[in-house]
Amino acid sequence: MSYTITMIPGDGIGPEVMEAMQAVVNASGVEIEWEVVNAGEGVIEEYGTPLPDYVIESIKKNKIAIKGPVTTPVGKGFRSVNVGLRQSLNLYANVRPVKTFKGVPCRYEDVDLIIVRENTEDLYAGIEHMVGEDAAETIKIITRKASVRISKYAYELAKAQNRKMVTAVHKANIMKLSDGLFLKCAKEVGEEYPEIISNDMIVDAMSMRMVQDPTKYDVLVMPNLYGDILSDMASGLVGGLGIVPGANIGEDMAVFEAVHGSAPDIAGLNIANPTATILSGVMMLRYLKEFEAADKIEKAVSKVLESGKVVTSDLGGNAKTMEYANEIINNM
Ligand code: NAI
Repeated sequence: MSYTITMIPGDGIGPEVMEAMQAVVNASGVEIEWEVVNAGEGVIEEYGTPLPDYVIESIKKNKIAIKGPVTTPVGKGFRSVNVGLRQSLNLYANVRPVKTFKGVPCRYEDVDLIIVRENTEDLYAGIEHMVGEDAAETIKIITRKASVRISKYAYELAKAQNRKMVTAVHKANIMKLSDGLFLKCAKEVGEEYPEIISNDMIVDAMSMRMVQDPTKYDVLVMPNLYGDILSDMASGLVGGLGIVPGANIGEDMAVFEAVHGSAPDIAGLNIANPTATILSGVMMLRYLKEFEAADKIEKAVSKVLESGKVVTSDLGGNAKTMEYANEIINNM
């Protein structure tokens, strides 16, 4: 079977890590026609927006995309491409598996948790305004519909992967109405899954406990902002942003992308770690039910990381981005 997949190279290190992902996925034997469309800083001048309509149209047509990170200028008028994509395509679940790989320097062994982040509302709904000149207001929206939907997604994921526990993360002690509603919905959904342990934790306590021992957690479900912050933090616990992949999942389409951003500090140097993007490609292959190809890539990644000989500088090596990708291909 062959697939047409929308590919958005992105900004900064985006094109470098996406080239590596493409080479590895192509080498897996799955036939893919990559429909390359550009979004981000580079298209603003021509289209007046970092997210032109043709990008959305391409994803709507192909129902599947993989994207590199896109820079969002701070304080300028443009809405984030990521938030725009997630909202306009209703990609409601952001799924980020965080796990340790042998050979990757970090403080823990056997971390294997999944952050399920609600992707369409909360403080990221983009509803904000100035109140006079010296005050600003951002509105936090939490709905029953989105909270139930994301909770169900988390429990179904736990069930499908034979996982034992779902923890709802919130701040319902302070935001009694909004996070209170989220927690209520998560608990209601949890009752439908008696075989899975359901519990909840306040986000600040969760942050401390996760740093102390992330091996204790399994599936974590949470509103948008907490998911954004905790997934970067969790990445730091397993070796950094260079290795944690992600998926934005909707009703009938999905956009795969690493957790990390465009890393302007190392862009253009060909030293970015493409593992996170390659593993996002693995998640994409599993979504397409190309399990054999996905397993083949994942095993090769594990092998190369474990041997530690050809790895990028964030993991203590000196391999360039494509050298590392080629080493994975040689190990497949
Ligand atoms: P960042 O994730 O780009 O970088 C944070 C740190 O991690 C930097 O020191 C960077 O060098 C390092 N890093 C990230 N990915 C790496 C990789 N693959 N290999 C080696 N080192 C890596 O976060 P930052 O600097 O806060 O954001 C930069 C830009 O990216 C901003 O404009 C932000 O809005 C955007 N961004 C885009 C995302 C997306 O498109 N999904 C997600 C997060 C941020």
